[in-house]
Amino acid sequence: MKTRIAQGNVEGATQRGTRVFERKLLDGGITAIRNKSSGATPAVQSFATSNAEKRTYEPAEREEKERIPASEVLEHWNARAQRAGVQSVMSARHTPEENEEATRKLQVDVFDFLRGQIEGKKVFELGVGIGRMTVELAKRARKVAGCDFSSEMLARAAENLRKFNPLVLNAKNDVENKLRARAVAFGGRGYMPTNVRLYLGKIFDLRLPAKSFDLVFESIVLLHILDPEELRATIARMQELSNRIFICEHTFEGEAFPISRYSILRTAEEYEELFKPFKLVKKKTHLCAGDSFTLMLFEKWKQNPHE
Ligand SMILES: C[S@@+](CC[C@H](N)C(=O)[O-])C[C@H]1O[C@@H](n2cnc3c(N)ncnc32)[C@H](O)[C@@H]1O
Repeated sequence: MKTRIAQGNVEGATQRGTRVFERKLLDGGITAIRNKSSGATPAVQSFATSNAEKRTYEPAEREEKERIPASEVLEHWNARAQRAGVQSVMSARHTPEENEEATRKLQVDVFDFLRGQIEGKKVFELGVGIGRMTVELAKRARKVAGCDFSSEMLARAAENLRKFNPLVLNAKNDVENKLRARAVAFGGRGYMPTNVRLYLGKIFDLRLPAKSFDLVFESIVLLHILDPEELRATIARMQELSNRIFICEHTFEGEAFPISRYSILRTAEEYEELFKPFKLVKKKTHLCAGDSFTLMLFEKWKQNPHE
């Protein structure tokens, strides 16, 4: 794994179990964390994080992460939306250039993996972020509905989608609830592609009819749902909305992997278990800026194929 040594003033040291970590705050909100006890090279140097992010790379055990209050998680995503470009939705352990390049490769691999599952179909996207996948879905699908619980992220998505296709309806028709207020920021003309609808909220907050989509799509969202109960409820709702689900997740890379406080790296097998009784029908690994991602397609298993 790539690590870099950061220069800066030591702000403080924290004792966590038997490990001692040094936290350095560098110019521009860059944070470096060093495992002091082992004297090893720094575990994390983060690039272009927003100044509003204070705790992103504070080390935490899985059990501790599972108990982080929902309000802190939301605050993290609203702050993270202030990072420039794709850094908002990618790991700040990589440079903006690495993440731009990794995004292009990920888009190619994901849409190649899903060929035939999106074209002309109705797709629901969980956790749209800045809309980098939504734009690609909108080019291929008949209709796309997407949600995100961060109003800041959703505003970025709306703006990116507006750039993507100027031949669209007035936001009043397309953007739900609180997003309407944000549309005012675009001079009351927050344009969106006609085939995309965005919702502010979590998937189980939305009143959408059961089985109303050909595919539910998500990319690196589930690893950020830390509370196990919420994760189960989210998956149940994904399964209610469609008989076909695609997930693209950063998967387990070992106990010592320096992942953010707001991420839990689960194994592909753990996801397979969580999605039961849906069956895993296709799987592929993908290296995203050196991180190990797994693409998985699940389908509802039918006893009677004519059902
Ligand atoms: C790493 S970003 C990925 C964004 C997008 N899927 C992509 O691949 O570019 C994760 C996104 O999920 C959103 N998110 C996290 N938990 C969520 C939840 N429970 N419900 C809806 N959105 C959530 C965050 O606000 C953020 O925009």
